[in-house]
Amino acid sequence: MAGHRVPLLRMGLIPILLQGAGARLARQNAVGSRESSSQGKLNLTQSQALPSRPFHYPQPESALHCGKVSLEVLAKRFGTPLYVYSADQIAERLAMFQQALEGRDHLVCYAVKANSALAILKLLAERGAGFDIVSGGELERVLAAASEALDRVVYSGAGKTAGEIDLALKAGILEFNVESEAELELLAARAAKLRKKARFALRVNPDVFAETHPYISTGLREHKFGIDIRQARRIYKSVAGNRWLEAHGVSVHIGSQIRSAAPFGAAVERVAKLAGQLRRDGIALKAVDAGGGLGIDYHAGSFDAAAKVQEYAAAVEQALGGFEGRLLLEPGRFLVAQAGALVTRVLQVKRNGRKTFVITDAGMNDLIRPALYQAHHEIVPVRARAGKARAVDVVGPVCETGDFFARERKLQPVEPGDLLAVLDAGAYGMAQSSNYNTRMRPAEVLVEGAKARLIRRRETIADLLAPEIL
Ligand code: LLP
Repeated sequence: MAGHRVPLLRMGLIPILLQGAGARLARQNAVGSRESSSQGKLNLTQSQALPSRPFHYPQPESALHCGKVSLEVLAKRFGTPLYVYSADQIAERLAMFQQALEGRDHLVCYAVKANSALAILKLLAERGAGFDIVSGGELERVLAAASEALDRVVYSGAGKTAGEIDLALKAGILEFNVESEAELELLAARAAKLRKKARFALRVNPDVFAETHPYISTGLREHKFGIDIRQARRIYKSVAGNRWLEAHGVSVHIGSQIRSAAPFGAAVERVAKLAGQLRRDGIALKAVDAGGGLGIDYHAGSFDAAAKVQEYAAAVEQALGGFEGRLLLEPGRFLVAQAGALVTRVLQVKRNGRKTFVITDAGMNDLIRPALYQAHHEIVPVRARAGKARAVDVVGPVCETGDFFARERKLQPVEPGDLLAVLDAGAYGMAQSSNYNTRMRPAEVLVEGAKARLIRRRETIADLLAPEIL
């Protein structure tokens, strides 16, 4: 690990910690990035990678920190690969939504699928969040972590089983987001059986195009999600007399990692219009659920999260028009993605002809986003080395060519034993991990101020073999 350290301070490149900072610091940071680009290539990637993330180098030549905690220390204590999350940033992101919507009745229902760690659910529930779940399993997580928040749960998903519906009815959740007529019939039957009234919203498909990766775009008629908005009014009317169903709301979700506010506005406008028609029909909905999907900036450079949320909230509020009920939102990624990093150790640096491969102890089973969506994640050294940046492939040890975190990425020199941090890994990282190649899933650590605590221990081989029968 010896080696010349990069003189960050002299180059004016100490990244600014954005925690709790909001727009003002984001602007300062943007300026910092511009300065850095004019002063030298060496640190460009590194200095620009950090705005709007809780990860920073507090001193010249020091290790990358999450808040006040060194990632080097965490890696030594808990091993690698390791997911590290900032509780402070998660709380801050939730507060951004709550503040932007201060003037109206609203509930932020965190999309559990983005990161379902119990400790994260608990911290969000304590700060007033509800939850968007998509399975009985996720409901069990809310039960385990924050049972006081069960009446703040909305249940989405295109294929709910009778057992899952029963569980949610007994738990007394806020709303079932129903995706088909058949599901509505099933919900009515289960509610009648259990003698528990089911509050429902139809998840409508607004036929709005959201520019994002095709795998995570959901709001077009050709997608499997939701009910054609043109059919919704008829369906609401058809169940108006059912004593076990309460038409509580209407919901929409057009996709994920959507960077512009416009498609959200367009979708909510259509939904609000439907709510208006239903009111005239004598069906007064209490809630509009605008779904999740607000995107972040995975690339280097400045990103003003608070301004983004304000822009989004303004577009949604404007689109709601005269709707007077409650606004529900289901953000996932925006709350947790940038709060997390995957810390990994370099096993080998291998040269094959012109190509250099940096082989890490984390693989596609730990973070599949690059392999699955060709997603970009910034990668920074936990402790920078001096030297010229070179294009490398950062790859994992899994036996697939698709097992990569970055290709032809300019990285400062790295050596075996060095630590790297894959940024923006807090959402759909651990949540989409697997045991492929019989690899144990990483441990997870939550950092709050100066304290770090283990929120999930590393899996053991005994954990993996336990369900199997010889
Ligand atoms: N509500 C519903 C009904 C959803 O299907 C989703 C995400 C969300 C809310 C939360 O969306 P978010 O705010 O996180 O964008 N694995 C992919 C993302 C899949 C999103 C699926 N649905 C990725 O890694 O990019």
